[in-house]
Amino acid sequence: MKVAVIGSGGREHAICVSLKKSSKVDQIFCIPGNAGTGSIAKNIIIDVEDFEKIKNFIKKENVDLVIIGPEKPLVGGIVDYLKNHGIKVFGPNKIASQLEGSKIFTKKICEKYKIPTAKFGIYKNANEAEKFLKNCNYPIVIKADGLASGKGVYICEDNTQSTLAVNEIFNGKFGEAKEILIEEFLVGEEMSFFIITDGKSYKNFGTAQDHKRVLEGDKGKNTGGMGAYSPSRLEEKSLNKKILEKIINPTIKGLKELNTEYVGFLYAGLMIVDNEPYLIEYNVRMGDPECQTILPKLETDLFIILESCTNRNLDKIKLEWKNTKSLCIVVCSNGYPDKFQKNFEINGLEEISLKNNEFIFHAGTKRVKSKIVSNGGRVLNFVILSNEFKKCRIKALELIKKLNWSKGFFRKDIGFKVIRS
Ligand code: AMP
Ligand code: GLY
Repeated sequence: MKVAVIGSGGREHAICVSLKKSSKVDQIFCIPGNAGTGSIAKNIIIDVEDFEKIKNFIKKENVDLVIIGPEKPLVGGIVDYLKNHGIKVFGPNKIASQLEGSKIFTKKICEKYKIPTAKFGIYKNANEAEKFLKNCNYPIVIKADGLASGKGVYICEDNTQSTLAVNEIFNGKFGEAKEILIEEFLVGEEMSFFIITDGKSYKNFGTAQDHKRVLEGDKGKNTGGMGAYSPSRLEEKSLNKKILEKIINPTIKGLKELNTEYVGFLYAGLMIVDNEPYLIEYNVRMGDPECQTILPKLETDLFIILESCTNRNLDKIKLEWKNTKSLCIVVCSNGYPDKFQKNFEINGLEEISLKNNEFIFHAGTKRVKSKIVSNGGRVLNFVILSNEFKKCRIKALELIKKLNWSKGFFRKDIGFKVIRS
């Protein structure tokens, strides 16, 4: 079979590595890919939002299955577009992708189906929002409605900060804003919870704890994710049951009542408060770096799982997982998540020898002749599986030390909630 993976991050490299293990997969294309995917797949340089060019390429090559990694093309409707051209594709359609594309769409589903989430209000202009913000309790959370690469969320401590947030959003910092979401600040512990579904049935696809802040001790700005570990320390049966019954099932029901069906990975970003789950956000894809952290534990053939979703027979497949812990440390370009430079050579990467259960997934890298250079904010993911989180972290740090890349930085404390040093 021929498969194409759309995207260029660590998530897509991890997906390619898993697909490569499948005896059913003969060739992998990655659009546009990175230096890591380029060593096991054929990178094809097409913009992930240029649906027509992607379709033409897929048709020309007779690709059997297309897998969409990132949210932008999903929210833009790539699945509907490719399907309309007779192409088999794994990922949610445009209507279902609004779960990530519009925070207000998701909040309305939460309201209708009584899904636990932070209390909220939707405001149509700055004046209305200001009136509420003058008398509310702080901290308060203010969110732009649409996709904002993780940047459209403000946690405000006082009225000065909230006024700034409202003005930035309504002044178009994240694209045209017709409405704004203001919600209660929840105090608890976050958890990334994943399922995979074919529209008929679903299966759990692991849990993880991301580390979104750029600095150690969860300080500093929000990023795409500086590292993760899996499973989340909060994972246990009764919580799992509550998440499925109170959050996942009613969401799937809500989509059915909108006459649509969800096919793909669904990622619930949760806040667990006193052992009760609250939905903070949905993402319509695997997380990054959660995907890199979780996928190496999967023992079942990933291609068979994804294909079964497009054939609506996921219920026939049993997912088998390695019973180990996994931890991922992300190496970023100096300056990230603010300004950073690209095109710095990464020496010695290919000389690092990896044993079983040790992985390096590329994110913002590209190959220029025989060299690998940086090409993004998050550059490399070091992932280790082991029976103890502590051993995972020690080994990942050891490998990063071997790399000794002066143009990058990383958090040394990933997993601090589960590792006593
Ligand atoms: P989101 O993009 O909606 O996941 O928000 C980004 C981050 O902001 C989350 O991972 C949380 O750390 C934080 N956050 C968002 N909403 C809330 C909330 N209602 N209460 C507390 N923290 C929140
Ligand atoms: N790790 C957060 C995300 O993928 O959105």
